[in-house]
Amino acid sequence: MKVDVLLGLQWGDEGKGKIVDFLTPNYNVIARFQGGPNAGHTLEFNNIKHVLHTIPSGIFHDNTENLIGNGVVIDPIILISEIEKAKAIGTDIFKTLLISKKAHLILPTHRLLDAANENKLGKNKIGSTLKGIGPCYTDKVARKGLRVGDILSNDFIKKFNIIIESHKQQLDFLEFEYDLESSIQDWLNAIDKIRMMKIVDGEWFINHAITNNKKILAEGAQGSLLDIDYGSYPFVTSSNTISAGVCTGLGIAPNKTGNILGIFKAYCTRVGSGPFPTELFDADGENLRTEGNEFGSTTGRPRRCGWLDLVALKYSIMINGVSELYMMKTDVLDSFQKIKVATAYIIDGKRHTEMPYELSQNIEPEYVEFKAWNTDTSKFSKFSELPVELLQYIKFIEEETGVPIKIVSVGPNRNQTIISDNF
Ligand code: GDP
Ligand code: IMO
Ligand code: MG
Repeated sequence: MKVDVLLGLQWGDEGKGKIVDFLTPNYNVIARFQGGPNAGHTLEFNNIKHVLHTIPSGIFHDNTENLIGNGVVIDPIILISEIEKAKAIGTDIFKTLLISKKAHLILPTHRLLDAANENKLGKNKIGSTLKGIGPCYTDKVARKGLRVGDILSNDFIKKFNIIIESHKQQLDFLEFEYDLESSIQDWLNAIDKIRMMKIVDGEWFINHAITNNKKILAEGAQGSLLDIDYGSYPFVTSSNTISAGVCTGLGIAPNKTGNILGIFKAYCTRVGSGPFPTELFDADGENLRTEGNEFGSTTGRPRRCGWLDLVALKYSIMINGVSELYMMKTDVLDSFQKIKVATAYIIDGKRHTEMPYELSQNIEPEYVEFKAWNTDTSKFSKFSELPVELLQYIKFIEEETGVPIKIVSVGPNRNQTIISDNF
């Protein structure tokens, strides 16, 4: 079977964790293909709320295997703590989790370098989650990184020490003060635990699964507008978050990808620095943050909130080849009287419907205004029950994007998920 891909179409936190967990019973394998513990994917079921950073969101279903692909960067300490938290609620991840040998390792010094780089940028900082993502991918591309497969070799410690020494020199150059000793020991202890896990040739595992007709879902992290090539550069993450990243991040050929499931919030959020054309600084923005509980799953930072941006959404749909849309957090708009959607950008008096090279500060969004449904949607379970104003909102987005909306999510819980008749 071909590999379906689920990814976020905005600036992350669209609700990927919830939907992957919801869809997992339809799949044999869930695979993360990029990013690392900068991700925070939230799942809620049976009154339990769980946030995953590195582990694929299929882990709470016994019959599914979960692969951390080679495109992912792994912080061993965070991975082990995730595994232990899941174990505490009765899920033994050791059985169903596989790790690709070619995935790169985040060293304690990568995190320090992240902080040092951000310090140097001052008010121009990226707003990184400071998990060491950028420095780790930098070493990967510079051909100096340490991979999971290396922990099985005899000269692992030697390689590790060489990299740590070179990072220390960089930290000194950046005039960054640090204390490393205890984190190095914790890191090495976590590596000892990872050595006991299922470390595999990820590309062979996934291609055998394809040949054996297994159903596979690739789970994206971050969002398309944070993609290193197509996002709002330089305010992006350091990986390809788009569907093309699945091929390099798992080792599958382009003709082995199947449906591309694009997920977006019924409005828009962003955490960290960088342009955000539809950002709201008024009471509507505050309401979105409060109603949507828009605080980062990884860092707890308040998320910036704004109206849905169709210029950006259409761009993400194009870059990813999205075949179906899932609209998340619809219930957050339940208490609104009116809703706006941006359909164009006015830049220097000119109207643009295509994403410009840079999202500059002088973009004036052109909005279409809708009367809102003002109804509690969180208890609905069928499309036919949805209020007419919401159905009109859905139809408008479908017509503008040319892609069907097949899921409407109306709450954080697994069962607050409404599927369309043609799902
Ligand atoms: P991810 O990074 O894409 O997995 O998303 P996050 O987990 O970072 O953020 C999404 C947040 O919204 C989490 O707290 C989810 O529990 C919550 N959530 C997901 N879907 C819905 C929904 O339809 N309605 C509401 N109110 N919350 C949702
Ligand atoms: P999930 O998978 C939202 C943002 C950071 C920062 C920029 C770079 O939960 O949707 P990095 O740590 O990668 O150097 O940060 O990207 N960012 C995210 N924003 N959701 C995420 O992941 C994010 N991962 C990174 O806030 O602006
Ligand atoms: Mg998140």
